[in-house]
Amino acid sequence: MKEFKRYMITAALPYANGPIHIGHLAGVYIPADIYVRYLRMRGTDVKFVCGSDEHGVPITIKARNENVLPQVIVDRYHEIIKKSFTDFGIHFDKYSRTTSKVHFKMASDIFTTINDKNGFVEKESEQYYDENANQYLADRYITGTCPHCGNEKAYGDQCEKCGTTLNALDLINPQSVLSGSKPVLRKTKHWYLPLEKHEKWLRDWIVGDHKEWKVNVAGQCKSWLDMGLQPRAVSRDLDWGIPVPLKDADGKVLYVWFDAPIGYISATKELAQEQGFDWELYWKNDDTRLIHFIGKDNIVFHCIVFPAMLKAEGSYILPDNVPANEFLNLEGDKISTSRNWAVWLHEYLLDFKDKQDVLRYTLTANAPETKDNDFTWKDFQDRNNNELVAILGNFVNRTLVLTQKYYEGVVPIPLDFKDYDIQSLKEIDALKKSIEESISLFRFREALKLAMDMARVGNKYLADMEPWKLIKTDAERVKTIMYVALQITANLAIVFNPFLPFTAARLRNFLNMDDQNWDAIGGFANGKVNELIKAGHKINEPVLLFDKIEDDAIELQKQKLAESKKMNAAVSSVQLQRENVSYDDFSKMDIRVGKILEAEKLAKTKKLMKLTIDTGIDKRTVVSGIAEYFEPAQIIGKQVCILINLEPREIKGITSQGMILMAENAEGVLTFVQPDKEFMNGAVVK
Ligand code: 2FM
Ligand code: ZN
Repeated sequence: MKEFKRYMITAALPYANGPIHIGHLAGVYIPADIYVRYLRMRGTDVKFVCGSDEHGVPITIKARNENVLPQVIVDRYHEIIKKSFTDFGIHFDKYSRTTSKVHFKMASDIFTTINDKNGFVEKESEQYYDENANQYLADRYITGTCPHCGNEKAYGDQCEKCGTTLNALDLINPQSVLSGSKPVLRKTKHWYLPLEKHEKWLRDWIVGDHKEWKVNVAGQCKSWLDMGLQPRAVSRDLDWGIPVPLKDADGKVLYVWFDAPIGYISATKELAQEQGFDWELYWKNDDTRLIHFIGKDNIVFHCIVFPAMLKAEGSYILPDNVPANEFLNLEGDKISTSRNWAVWLHEYLLDFKDKQDVLRYTLTANAPETKDNDFTWKDFQDRNNNELVAILGNFVNRTLVLTQKYYEGVVPIPLDFKDYDIQSLKEIDALKKSIEESISLFRFREALKLAMDMARVGNKYLADMEPWKLIKTDAERVKTIMYVALQITANLAIVFNPFLPFTAARLRNFLNMDDQNWDAIGGFANGKVNELIKAGHKINEPVLLFDKIEDDAIELQKQKLAESKKMNAAVSSVQLQRENVSYDDFSKMDIRVGKILEAEKLAKTKKLMKLTIDTGIDKRTVVSGIAEYFEPAQIIGKQVCILINLEPREIKGITSQGMILMAENAEGVLTFVQPDKEFMNGAVVK
């Protein structure tokens, strides 16, 4: 691999329109922080930057809903987010924001340079315009009926009911969110980055030169490239953002995804101004290794669009790696801000004061590195109680308490080392090497497990040596054992620093040990024990590193989530009355009374049941999503209402001919709609 002189590490700029949650930490910020802490401990020349992403339409919408200026929103969340990072030990060299002056200039300059080199294409298109509010409408500012599912509150970019990505022009009955009026189509001009012209080198660079990229990242890039790249607009008609720096561009701002990644460069420049170094070395020199830490939804922007921008500008380096993670789910469901299905960092700390590292540990151990992963409170409790308390905490505590008890806190002088002592110390060396390899491949869960294995080595060593028994018969031997255990503990204080920085700092404090660099880690090399803390050195009184987390604390968190679920169900069940339909439309539906003759749950599905219904006309098969609420035996013989002229559908290889009518309550519980007394099968419902 190429030797680099310095590292430039970036972490995705979070949108300043809400606080951050565990998904953000697990996906982006913890891995980036582990990596940078490790590099710093190795004495690498590294800069680590991030900042708040303060432009874009969602911020203007939030501001409008609160009747304040967008600046008020971004000022608020910038502070909240910044504090969460500090609270969790995510230590950037610079945490900036995209409303900074330096950033405005940087983004404008980069736009201008690209434009001067004819790197953009100007194009006119038709876009919705609100004649009452006198402005063009961003997709989110238009609602209408989804052409796919009929949801009348679909947005111009997406229908949140059926999840389809939409084009504002496809909405039926479009309406402006600003004035409620019907928008009109007007011509507007924008600047486009012609990505199709960059396709060839991008393919050579990603698929050819960077075979080492993570499979999930390379896969996504390849599928974008295979679909064929299209020109991307880099400007918007909006009054919040960085003005397009051209004469004929009134009312136009840079698209948020054009300016946001430039935020990395601006943050570095601001840092350079504060510290007095040459920022260009970190962005324009081939000796610099640029790495972007991001979540999977940002892959296309960091691997295709931003590199194309930098290439078009002409003086920048490209990322050497983009180790994007997949998503973290919460208790089996997608994390969602609007549904309050999240663990917010500031709330976590209210309930689990000083337990940042427990969360850092759980999130790293479950990091969605290769596929989406799940956070559960039960797993959080188990990881704390069975790993942090029982392995790391237990070993450290035993070692330190025994040292106090036997030697009043002074590291004893070892006599002679037995094979088992040396063998245990050598395992530390092997683990160090493996951890380094895992980190270099961005496999942080693996690296953390190996670090924990180091604590396991210590735990096993003490359990096998039983110094608490031996002290009665061979006090001299115990000195060596405790000396070895203390060296292992000192190694842990270094090794855990990237992963659990608060714990590592406490451990260094217990051991009365200075900060050490990574290379100090070691057990036994060149025929000698690696003496991290010397015989005769006085250590401090320890307190427990981790406490057990009891069931009631976990129950409380689960209850919080259950509350969110209830609220969401209530909100979604209070369905607004749908659009009127004509009697003719209604009468097209052929609904009959029928009887369930047979019922069986469909294998390998949670929700589906295969029913045989006597419709009075025939006996037919219907696949119905009721299996979570009913057992087959419970419903055989029941009368139901069935829509018999619904187009047959293939569901799990079975042709379903019709639909059983069900009512759903606020909790999502289903019940049958049926005649109030036994009635003739085939009777028409009207
Ligand atoms: O997805 C997001 O949260 C974006 N705000 C990430 C921007 S990353 C970068 F380009 F700044
Ligand atoms: Zn829809």
